[in-house]
Amino acid sequence: MTFKVGKILITGGAGFIGFHLTQALLAAGQSVRILDPLSPQVHGSVPVGLEWLHNGQIEFIRGSVTSEPDLRAALKEVDVVVHLAAETGTGQSMYEIKRYNDVNVGGTALLLDILANDSTRAVKRIVLASSRSIYGEGAYVCQNCADEIRQFPDCRSAKQLAAHQWEHVCTACGTCLTPVPTRETDPARPASIYAATKYAQEDLVRIASTSLGIDYAILRLQNVYGEGQSLNNPYTGILSIFSTRVRRGQVLPIFEDGLETRDFVHVRDVANAFLAAVLFDGAVNQTMNVGMGVKTTVTEIAGHLSDAFGATHKLKTTSEYRLGDIRHNFADNARLKNILGFEPCIDLAEGMRLFAAWVGTQDVPDDRLDFANAELKARKLMG
Ligand SMILES: NC(=O)c1ccc[n+]([C@@H]2O[C@H](COP(=O)([O-])OP(=O)(O)OC[C@H]3O[C@@H](n4cnc5c(N)ncnc54)[C@H](O)[C@@H]3O)[C@@H](O)[C@H]2O)c1
Repeated sequence: MTFKVGKILITGGAGFIGFHLTQALLAAGQSVRILDPLSPQVHGSVPVGLEWLHNGQIEFIRGSVTSEPDLRAALKEVDVVVHLAAETGTGQSMYEIKRYNDVNVGGTALLLDILANDSTRAVKRIVLASSRSIYGEGAYVCQNCADEIRQFPDCRSAKQLAAHQWEHVCTACGTCLTPVPTRETDPARPASIYAATKYAQEDLVRIASTSLGIDYAILRLQNVYGEGQSLNNPYTGILSIFSTRVRRGQVLPIFEDGLETRDFVHVRDVANAFLAAVLFDGAVNQTMNVGMGVKTTVTEIAGHLSDAFGATHKLKTTSEYRLGDIRHNFADNARLKNILGFEPCIDLAEGMRLFAAWVGTQDVPDDRLDFANAELKARKLMG
């Protein structure tokens, strides 16, 4: 059964996922308002490529979730809130702690505070974009002990990383552990400030919504990629960062031993998961992973990306590392499938083709990776 939806507010809706979700909602005949300050880190100091915000079908408010007047204006006559607004750089979050807390946690708290004090109870549902980062290192089993017991290792210490001990080992026998898909019932163990703020958002939304009688749905996204992702932001988005270097003919520097893995999911699949979470009652008060459920090494992804641009592979495994980065994580999608009847379906080959074709239509941005890494090194957050 579909949820009767009136006006939908998307916070942070001018961003990467917000764009695709807006298109999906408009195609489904829904009415969309966006609240977004057009953060320079994401959109550039002079935002470009945002004509779609002014096409007459969308109400756009340039403002912030940290501003009470902005949020109050944005919430007027809204039935559903999709809360995407966030600062999203894992490495940057480790030294801009207050900013990440203010926007991600403070913005969510302000949103809920306004709803808690709204006697009309107009908002009926909140859908939150959370992150696989809340699991930290995720779930593993030891194939040597063969007991199938799921283990949840601590995040890797600075000492362990400095010794290039990349993989987690079994506490019982010392054998390297094998990563397995993370389930929503697995423990949350954030390893970065960004992850901690995403987990705090989850708690705030779950607890406040339950007490206020507002439906909520929480989507824990894996690594989202695709057309429209910020090419300006050097703090997040490995495929954006690598695509700029491929186009500049530069080497792709690959951290650790290049065998760390991520679960890459295309943004159109993610937008459809949000659409389902907004429209279907099955999503009510559920927390669901959204990924492909496939792990891909960073070396493989760099190779696929180079292929998609028809470029030779210029990959260099640097043995460098960042504190707060996890080693492996991929999603168990069973809940998403069972609850929403939805499975991501754009495979990596197709997704890469779409992404590279879009990137080719964009100006080649400045390469600011070295700048971002230098910031981390200066703070001893990268070795
Ligand atoms: N892209 C991914 O791989 C990924 C993975 C896991 C979770 N997420 C989550 O999904 C959400 C959307 O991510 P995205 O990839 O579209 O990021 P994005 O950076 O492209 O978009 C975020 C948007 O939020 C806006 N924003 C920043 N500060 C704001 C504020 N104070 N008030 C309102 N808006 C603000 C930015 O201007 C930007 O338009 C975030 O909550 C992020 O944590 C993304």
